Amino acid sequence: MAETTIDLRGIPLAEAYDELCVQVKAVLEGIDDSVAAMATISALIHNAFGHLWTGFYRVVEPGRLLRIGPYQGTLGCMEIEFGKGVCGTAAASSKTVIVEDVNAFAGHIACDARSRSEIVVPVFDGNHELIAVLDIDSEEPGTFGEADREGLERVVAWFAKGTPWA
Ligand code: SME
Repeated sequence: MAETTIDLRGIPLAEAYDELCVQVKAVLEGIDDSVAAMATISALIHNAFGHLWTGFYRVVEPGRLLRIGPYQGTLGCMEIEFGKGVCGTAAASSKTVIVEDVNAFAGHIACDARSRSEIVVPVFDGNHELIAVLDIDSEEPGTFGEADREGLERVVAWFAKGTPWA
């Protein structure tokens, strides 16, 4: 089992996410536990890139409510309704949302005042049901782009199982 926490800063993003997928797959080998996976993936992403906040909000009432799950960073908000904030918008649409400037996003929920940009990626299980969203916040504006969307959607495909990863 690969137990080192890798640092992927300075590596081209596509390669960094390839490496992250290899690491996630290795660390979670034989594990069938979504909470363990959320905790592990949060820790790996957070430390690989040095983000401000990295974690999951879980769907506790489908179509209505998200609640905090495993995360790394300062205290997160407890619950977010579907349609509210960036997380709730991603959950309601089942689509990744990239926000270059949180101050320009109406309804952004500021759990940490230092947050300037973010990406929220929906997480599906093997039945294509939305089970969570992955929320990553940065202290810098415009941190996240298409390479992050592509890479992070590959990472969270772990929860759908049987994904033909790198
Ligand atoms: N940024 C989120 C709120 C959660 S925290 O940042 C941890 C949002 O607007 O959905």
